[in-house]
Amino acid sequence: MSLAERIAQLEAEVAQAQARTAEEAERFRVAMLGRNGAVTELFDAFKQVATEEKRALGQRMNQLKLQAQARWEELKSGLQEGVAATGQSGDLTAPALTEPSGGLHPITIVRQRIVEVFERIGFTVSQGPEVEDDHHNFTALNFPKDHPARDMQDTFFINGPGGLALRTHTSSVQVRVMEGQRPPIRTISPGRVYRNEAISARAHCMFHQVEALYVDKGVSFAELKGTLDYFARSIFGPEVGIRLRPSYFPFTEPSAEVDMSCTICGGAGCNVCKHSGWVEIMGCGMVDPAVLANCGIDPEEYSGFALGMGVERIAQLLYRVPDLRLYWENDVRFLRQFTPGALRS
Ligand code: DAH
Repeated sequence: MSLAERIAQLEAEVAQAQARTAEEAERFRVAMLGRNGAVTELFDAFKQVATEEKRALGQRMNQLKLQAQARWEELKSGLQEGVAATGQSGDLTAPALTEPSGGLHPITIVRQRIVEVFERIGFTVSQGPEVEDDHHNFTALNFPKDHPARDMQDTFFINGPGGLALRTHTSSVQVRVMEGQRPPIRTISPGRVYRNEAISARAHCMFHQVEALYVDKGVSFAELKGTLDYFARSIFGPEVGIRLRPSYFPFTEPSAEVDMSCTICGGAGCNVCKHSGWVEIMGCGMVDPAVLANCGIDPEEYSGFALGMGVERIAQLLYRVPDLRLYWENDVRFLRQFTPGALRS
């Protein structure tokens, strides 16, 4: 474990430390700040750190030490309140001990908001497996074997018979739903998806998508556009607009990328929208008749639209998250900002 990881681990331990008795509070102090305590040991390890890292790590370590001291004080004073609350001494009106409260991860918060927005217009939630077969992830969605479109979505393959892989998109769930239900179908599928990507500020080998699918008699592109507009304004506010750019997905025809007017500069141009005034938020299109037929739905009778978005992307635009890796690092300083009331304290 690197020193930075160890610091993050101890920060979490300090934030979550509890004590019911004076001995437990003392045990916390010894374990963290004692001569052989975890924080003290960090300072020994610090001597090995490369000079260019010293400044940033040193600052975090000093802060951690202060946090551990403050937590110890809190634990001790909490005990006195505890004694009071049990009636063993003094003031029965003293406030009760407070539990440090956890919170939802920003990806969960945004996923729930997206689901709510679609539920309001009659969509149900469907789920499917993350380890998916070739048929549901690719073939039924019109990616023939050896077709170059498969290169857009390289993933992790599972050895053995059956052609299993970690699904590259939640579009696999639209196939499962259409195979199992008759139209009208109005469903969304939130879930984890995987790609063979090196981890960076802008990419990760695992992320979250929400896909929506609507199949019925006479579903039109106008309904798709109305739904996109409703979605963008429900999540980002009434002032945003959308535009569609022609694009390609094997499973929709026609296909489009959806851009939204930049919420940061209001369309005037800034770094986030790369001075274009627009940011991309998802892909969409009319379900290709071949996909309907692959799933046993008559394309002469029915039509449909589909759309798919990355939850990390929507959360990034909502909360201005500068680096995707923040979502996975479990750094409480990032996560704490999303707990209820956090911005007030
Ligand atoms: N499955 C696409 C992807 O992961 C996203 C997508 C685009 C989903 C267009 C759709 C759609 O349903 O119509 O890149």
